[in-house]
Amino acid sequence: MKRACVIGWPVVHSRSPVIHRYWLKLYDLEGGYEQEAVRPEEVAEFLKTLGNHGYAGANVTLPYKEAALAAADRADQAAITIGAANTLWLDAKGLLHASNTDAYGFMTHLAQEAPDWNRGKHLMVLGAGGAARAILQGLTGAGASKILLANRTGDRSKALAQSFGPRVSVVPWEDRSKALDGCGLLVNTTSLGMTGKPPLDIDLSALPFDAIVADIVYSPLETPLLAVAVGRGNRTVDGLGMLLHQAVPGFERWFGVRPEVTSALRAHVAAHLEAS
Ligand code: ATR
Repeated sequence: MKRACVIGWPVVHSRSPVIHRYWLKLYDLEGGYEQEAVRPEEVAEFLKTLGNHGYAGANVTLPYKEAALAAADRADQAAITIGAANTLWLDAKGLLHASNTDAYGFMTHLAQEAPDWNRGKHLMVLGAGGAARAILQGLTGAGASKILLANRTGDRSKALAQSFGPRVSVVPWEDRSKALDGCGLLVNTTSLGMTGKPPLDIDLSALPFDAIVADIVYSPLETPLLAVAVGRGNRTVDGLGMLLHQAVPGFERWFGVRPEVTSALRAHVAAHLEAS
């Protein structure tokens, strides 16, 4: 029986078990998906001995995505560019492979919900953490050529923009609302709007009505930002799709079946989010 897990500290908030256990049952596979709360001082050793713990692979969540990349014997281009890994698997020789599927998850959902997201207008990304890096990698990899990046801490957005070259330029945080003039896609990658956090403070008046507004926050499913966007008629893309799609490549590696993201899975995970 194959087993995988999600490694984090803390790990109880991870939704990965809900997704992977749903698929294991749906495809009638003999497999398991566990939660592993691993202490910071033990994580390097745990990752290096994943197979000895009985695992074929793992998801890695905060704060270990960089440690996961460092522990791997092989890493794909996405993990290298993003500088962090969220998906690990062991090959037949026992080598540990690392990937980052966050950009894949975001872009797959975006392409499904708004296939015309790149219409020659500039795009705008808010935030400069690990999630912003993954989304910039996804957007530039899919052909975006003009992205404005705004973050509260300007030094972080400058450093992040620099690593992507001239396609990404920095806008001061206080100019974020003004910079929406002529924007085709706005993406929030900050934690603002999440349950328990303040809403994202931004004025959408300058945003064209045909722009797409995406949020990577999925709890609540409709963030205050998305609610305002819906209210003025903009198309929206929520954060749950990214969460579901990023899980696909790992499941396929570990259990040998490429799982589908369906509306039934969405409803199952959304119900879980509401209950917790
Ligand atoms: P992750 O790796 O998950 O993206 P992170 O590195 O903690 O997480 O980044 C969180 C993002 O939310 C950052 O862009 C952060 O801005 P700073 O770089 O200035 O910290 C942003 N963020 C969090 N709280 C914020 C707030 N109250 N106002 C503005 N931005 C905020």
